[in-house]
Amino acid sequence: MPLDQTSLLLELEPVVATNLDRHLSLAKEWFPHEYVPWSEGRTFDGLLGGEPYRPTDSQLPDVARTALIVNLLTEDNLPSYHHEIATLFGRDGAWGTWVHRWTAEEGRHGIALRDYLTVTRAVDPVELERARMTHMEAGYSNGHPDEILHSIAYVAFQELATRISHRNTGKATGDPMAEQLLARVAADENLHMVFYRNLLAAAFDLDPNHAMRAVTDVVAAFEMPGANIEGFGRKALSIALAGIYDLRQHRDEVLQPVLRQWDVFGRTDLDGDGEKAREELAAHMDELEAQAARFEEKREARRQRLQR
Ligand SMILES: [Fe+2]
Ligand SMILES: [Fe+2]
Repeated sequence: MPLDQTSLLLELEPVVATNLDRHLSLAKEWFPHEYVPWSEGRTFDGLLGGEPYRPTDSQLPDVARTALIVNLLTEDNLPSYHHEIATLFGRDGAWGTWVHRWTAEEGRHGIALRDYLTVTRAVDPVELERARMTHMEAGYSNGHPDEILHSIAYVAFQELATRISHRNTGKATGDPMAEQLLARVAADENLHMVFYRNLLAAAFDLDPNHAMRAVTDVVAAFEMPGANIEGFGRKALSIALAGIYDLRQHRDEVLQPVLRQWDVFGRTDLDGDGEKAREELAAHMDELEAQAARFEEKREARRQRLQR
């Protein structure tokens, strides 16, 4: 019998409690201000009559700036994410403690990134603020608002996706300070991924067919949490062309390792719709492989063209 949403919350509560303890024992306290070179900062124009922003103020490559903006705007939408998970998971017991702890940790990411970008003049602060307003006014909504297992599967993949994206953005900056900061943020995202991955692993044991269906639906419809950022398509393409986050990484470094942890292709406890969902997932992974290979070929051809 598939479990209803309330029973799932109740059955998973002890798993949340255990993994919350595990998380708290592994999470490292860190301070955004230590990652920002404050003495490099200068007052801006406007109210205080400082120097206006100029694109030449910073040496960061354009694509690194684009990726940093996407990552920061994604972090900025935290109030919407909090709303979605607090509504679904509730604010009581271990679930509530997790929801608030996770929100507090995520809050640090936006603070650190914004301070770094503003002090180093890596992006136009007026454009950034306008983009933040537009993005937050649009809000974010969970693609599976009434489905606990779908939502857990989504965040497991999404946390790993943001980990990879932060880490590779750091590398693309060529700035050891930015790289250090983004590696720190990426380490947080990894612990978040582990929390949700363990939770869904427990759900697989409770209700395997339902969990399998959730995973397949989420993988098939996956979008980055910042996918509704203005101009996201163009930005995501340049990020993919630079190898910061592309289909190959999405398939091989985000989807595959998590699917392997759940042993989705080796499980012997699936039948009916669960078995069907697993077949759909296998076909989807093959299709992603073909798409990733096509993209890599095109990118290589483009690289050679640009070199001539
Ligand atoms: Fe984050
Ligand atoms: Fe996270």
